[in-house]
Amino acid sequence: MDWLIETRDLTRIYGDGDQAIHALDGVNLQVRKGELIAVMGPSGSGKSTLLNMIGALDVPTRGQVLFEGQDLAKIRNKDEFRALKVGFVFQLHNLIPTLTAPENVEVPMMGHLSAGKRRKRSRELLEMVGLGDRMRHLPNQLSGGQRQRVAVARALANNPALVLADEPTGNLDSVAGQDLMDLLHKLNREQGNTFLVVTHDPIVARQTDRVIVMADGRIEREDLIHSPLEEDLKMWRHSGLGKRLLESDPQDLQSLGVTAEQGAALRELLDSNGKSTLPGQ
Ligand SMILES: Nc1ncnc2c1ncn2[C@@H]1O[C@H](COP(=O)(O)OP(=O)(O)OP(=O)(O)O)[C@@H](O)[C@H]1O
Ligand SMILES: [Mg+2]
Repeated sequence: MDWLIETRDLTRIYGDGDQAIHALDGVNLQVRKGELIAVMGPSGSGKSTLLNMIGALDVPTRGQVLFEGQDLAKIRNKDEFRALKVGFVFQLHNLIPTLTAPENVEVPMMGHLSAGKRRKRSRELLEMVGLGDRMRHLPNQLSGGQRQRVAVARALANNPALVLADEPTGNLDSVAGQDLMDLLHKLNREQGNTFLVVTHDPIVARQTDRVIVMADGRIEREDLIHSPLEEDLKMWRHSGLGKRLLESDPQDLQSLGVTAEQGAALRELLDSNGKSTLPGQ
């Protein structure tokens, strides 16, 4: 299998001696081209550090990141690698306040495309993210969700194989957050970009192909997401009501306001789809 990204024993230690922090502690991760992956885990578990390593923003203490089979440590021109292969979207969009939306989108194309081509591409990208009517706006004249969409357009400027997004919906309300996720889905489907998205939001995570859960600098577990409905069932199965439905006598179900037939149908659904779908479990 040719992986887009493979990390081998990826380790990042900050400080040394007693003070050493193992921000990443031997992470082995493989990402297929075209995957949309959520990275979850508590604060301080190493999610941002992982993204920074994969995007060549930081250097491992030990281990490797292979990008399309090539060891990042052996790439001489990191700036060019980042500009052409990786798009970044951060929690705070990091747009340049004095540049308009299209000018911001043009920034990563500078040095790679002529001014005319940059302008054309930035317009296309802004149209693609639904901001075709915001061509003269400065960042502070846009809503939070619109700014984040400009940041996505900017991340896609050079059509990178990989987009790294660190809590892109973190500062958005649920509607704007959903719009942004819909956009990432669309881009993933239509353009085939691979996405690694850090999120604390289980609703965002269940809309991806795979969830990687980090803890203490390691991958604690991985879940394959088969369909959002299945994920909802899985969540519901572990809820108080789900448990009661599965565990109680048919007669008791009446106390829950559920008829015996409804109970049987729900049980069947929960039993067939609600089980963990991870291979090997
Ligand atoms: N530049 C640094 N110097 C020292 N320690 C750092 C540095 N950057 C991160 N760390 C430590 O590494 C660990 C992992 O940090 P990281 O930012 O990757 O966590 P995270 O999972 O992204 O958390 P959050 O959800 O809060 O963003 C933390 O314990 C953090 O304190
Ligand atoms: Mg972080």
